[in-house]
Amino acid sequence: MAEIFRGRTALVTGASAGIGAAMARDLARRGADLVLVARRAERLEALAAECRALGVRAEPVPADLADPAAREALAARIGTVDLLVNNAGFGAYGALDGTDWARAERLLAVNVVALTHLTRLLTPAMAARGFGRVLHVASVVGFLPVPLFATYAASKAYVVSLGIALDAELAPRGVRVTVLCPGATATEFFDVARGEGDAPSAGPVGAMSAEAVARIGLDAMARGRPMVVAGGTNAAMVFALRFAPRALTARLAMRTLRRR
Ligand SMILES: NC(=O)c1ccc[n+]([C@@H]2O[C@H](COP(=O)([O-])OP(=O)(O)OC[C@H]3O[C@@H](n4cnc5c(N)ncnc54)[C@H](OP(=O)(O)O)[C@@H]3O)[C@@H](O)[C@H]2O)c1
Repeated sequence: MAEIFRGRTALVTGASAGIGAAMARDLARRGADLVLVARRAERLEALAAECRALGVRAEPVPADLADPAAREALAARIGTVDLLVNNAGFGAYGALDGTDWARAERLLAVNVVALTHLTRLLTPAMAARGFGRVLHVASVVGFLPVPLFATYAASKAYVVSLGIALDAELAPRGVRVTVLCPGATATEFFDVARGEGDAPSAGPVGAMSAEAVARIGLDAMARGRPMVVAGGTNAAMVFALRFAPRALTARLAMRTLRRR
């Protein structure tokens, strides 16, 4: 499994924390050189040093992916990569009619636009060389409209749909796209999502570790699987959701979230 990554160059977005940092460490152990992207430069520097100690090259590139010019500059700076891990993303709790619009727009810019733009910028060279792997980090909520978390869940539904379609588009040219759907994972995600709004007070229940989720995503990416749900319980939930009326599940989710 490790061989497909050895000697390849991987760009990991959102590498300063959580699942992205775990993926960077795992890729380094599997022998991939790394370009590490997020806004917090010191964290990227520290992670790059850790990865270099594992014998690979690692370059920290601080960038705000909500900014289109920063995305263009990033692609121009790094040239070509073999592996693209579109992991950067965040959630924001709260009803849309009371939301801070700048935050909601930023969520869409990072979770939806940046992921699409980086894929557009970096996959043509992969296709020209006849090899590439792209990992899009979505979520189990990509299958479940979630009131009070609506823009985030909708952004992940977009990621699921985009990734599966792009895999069919690019597979004939040697580029495979994998969508990773984690459920609750123990990272900084819930602190960021809580923000200053009226959020559920409890943290994630039964959360998986970032390391386990990263490993599942990278294994699926190595195999060229179009989609993987992290963890058996999450996979069973996603399967069951196929048969549940969406309006009903949304109302049940609204009741649950209100009670927390
Ligand atoms: N944790 C969960 O329960 C869970 C479940 C399903 C899916 N996911 C998804 O997993 C992915 C990783 O999240 P996580 O759980 O690891 O959360 P996290 O610990 O909060 O990490 C999020 C990462 O995204 C980066 N990021 C956010 N805004 C950015 C921006 N404007 N420009 C560049 N980087 C930015 C952050 O870096 P900086 O702040 O340094 O920029 C950080 O490295 C996300 O797409 C998330 O939606 C998480």
